[in-house]
Amino acid sequence: MPGAALPHGEEDTGMKLILLGAPGAGKGTQAEILSETLHIPAVSTGNIIRAALKNETPMGLAAKSYMDAGELVPDDIVIGIIKERLAEADCQNGFILDGFPRTIPQAQALEELGVTIDRVVSLEVPDEKIVARMSGRRVCGKCGASYHVEYKKPAKDGVCDVCGEPLICRKDDAPETVLERLRVFHEQTEPLKAFYEKLGKLKLVVGQEDVKDTTALTLAAVRD
Ligand code: AP5
Repeated sequence: MPGAALPHGEEDTGMKLILLGAPGAGKGTQAEILSETLHIPAVSTGNIIRAALKNETPMGLAAKSYMDAGELVPDDIVIGIIKERLAEADCQNGFILDGFPRTIPQAQALEELGVTIDRVVSLEVPDEKIVARMSGRRVCGKCGASYHVEYKKPAKDGVCDVCGEPLICRKDDAPETVLERLRVFHEQTEPLKAFYEKLGKLKLVVGQEDVKDTTALTLAAVRD
């Protein structure tokens, strides 16, 4: 695997990683940290769709009703998004996929694109903890930066550290929508663990209470 055998202190390069996990398992949080550590971009389909929605593009408007209800956006839309994003220059030397693939057809589409994934890390967090985490998540309405009222506080209550705008709750973090997202995850996304296990790429990481501890385990898993 690229980067795996590098001596301590040298940069890992060229890794192509997937972060799997339930909604709220910490994929976005870890993807951001790994992106800085490994110098590869984090590609979040959720963030791309939310940006399209904010800009009222046809794709964003088509995705809105699915997202608001906690359902998956149709595969053809999401696969189109990923094809375009992975063709960009910054993805040519590796990337971290956060929130893609989420169904077996999406994983197959990735293979058909000729993308060879090095590691798939599944962040394991029980459903009860997910519900508590989501109720405390706050996001910036302008730049999308993500916080938690207990685990990742902004410097000033209710205000984004990055751009100074007010923090809001994500619409799909309403408790009933979170339960639907968890149902969809178990039904449609969890089977990807067996898919990547068969390919010998899967690593399980138990999500910890402290973000730093999860990062240490995740880095160990991708470098293993
Ligand atoms: P998306 O934005 O991808 O949402 P998700 O997968 O449901 O994941 P989240 O962003 O909610 O959570 P996360 O795992 O990134 O956790 P986070 O780090 O924020 O997708 C949204 C929607 O878009 C989908 O429902 C679907 O409609 C559509 N979509 C996207 N991709 C798609 C695809 N491929 N196919 C079809 N549809 C698609 O952490 C959560 C909270 O916990 C934060 O507040 C954080 O601060 C806190 N936290 C993180 N780590 C810890 C820790 N270790 N301890 C305590 N708190 C922690």
